[in-house]
Amino acid sequence: MTKPKYIRPLVSELHAYVPGEQPKIKGLIKLNTNENPYPPSPRVLKAVQAAADGRLRLYPNPAADRLRAQLAKLHHCKPENIVVGNGSDELLALATRCFVEPAPKAHKRSAKSVIQYFTPSYSLYPVLADIHGATKNAVPLNPDFSIPKMAELKRAKLWDFNAALTLVTTPNAPSGRSYPVSQLERICGAQRGVVVLDEAYVDFAKENAMPLALKFENVLVARTFSKAYSLCFQRVGYFVGHPDLIDALHKIRDSYNVNGLGQVAAEATLDDLDYYRANFKKIIATREWLSRELTKLGFRVLPSETNFILARPPVFSAQDWLQKLRSRKILVRWFSAPEVKNYLRITIGTQREAEALVKAARRLGH
Ligand SMILES: Cc1ncc(COP(=O)(O)O)c(C=O)c1O
Repeated sequence: MTKPKYIRPLVSELHAYVPGEQPKIKGLIKLNTNENPYPPSPRVLKAVQAAADGRLRLYPNPAADRLRAQLAKLHHCKPENIVVGNGSDELLALATRCFVEPAPKAHKRSAKSVIQYFTPSYSLYPVLADIHGATKNAVPLNPDFSIPKMAELKRAKLWDFNAALTLVTTPNAPSGRSYPVSQLERICGAQRGVVVLDEAYVDFAKENAMPLALKFENVLVARTFSKAYSLCFQRVGYFVGHPDLIDALHKIRDSYNVNGLGQVAAEATLDDLDYYRANFKKIIATREWLSRELTKLGFRVLPSETNFILARPPVFSAQDWLQKLRSRKILVRWFSAPEVKNYLRITIGTQREAEALVKAARRLGH
């Protein structure tokens, strides 16, 4: 292949992040991208519709001030503890640019350039590291997807306590497993660089680590309106943490990084939390029902504290199941990474969708 003329080698050689399929065909049961099966609250839809008027010609509030004030109230902190982004993905990317030095080619490894994460976890992290030219430190989780104990992290010498940026998905994706906050606290206390606790799925879990963002000066908690608050389309996420870290992120973000309708939608969401809490309960009930039913059919379902499950199917390979379910109009997700290639990741949809999946699995597996 001839060398691309205009593109940086780092970009030509990059393996970009692969998002889950957004199918063009209608009528599929879509359990592949961890979206919420329930629509935003009627109050949110009304607020967005009401805001879609002549104001669209104006720039939105640059720092999402009203939303940050509401979030500060919710999390018992100050607006200075919060930065809002175009989805939490944008903030994760900003964190790489804010806290990590690109690795100089000719020099030996420096912790200042290290982005560290467990595997498997959110598959965007290595891509962000590659885009930034950082050094990746991918440390395997235990075979049951738990985090190795602190003594083990120290003993194995794989973990870098000086890494510039450590990213922990908690509860984890794609395993669905949660980690005790006490264990996360020990890790945060031991890291000399910045730690991001990525709590994209935390509303479906028993515990959350938000107090750590307000306790440690090097810890950020990432949250999103996408999953629990049915707002993927609007792209709103946020970090909570020490004002010094937050201030630095504000400095490098785009001036108007959160679109106006997204701000309106997120603000209205926070005014109607009871609606969403009722949905969390429904999703958790469906998750537990689906886990039990698939287990009866011979699937090995890992315990989940998220809005998806990771399940090892019987009879055929996971990749075959992916195709067979698709031919029955059910979309789930499969990852080729060795630790998870025998599993399917299944988003929790409505109870009806879960029943359709169980029916299809019963037919296919027998
Ligand atoms: C662990 C994790 N973090 C962050 C995100 C991104 O969320 P957002 O839609 O806020 O960019 C996802 C989305 O799949 C995720 O799985």
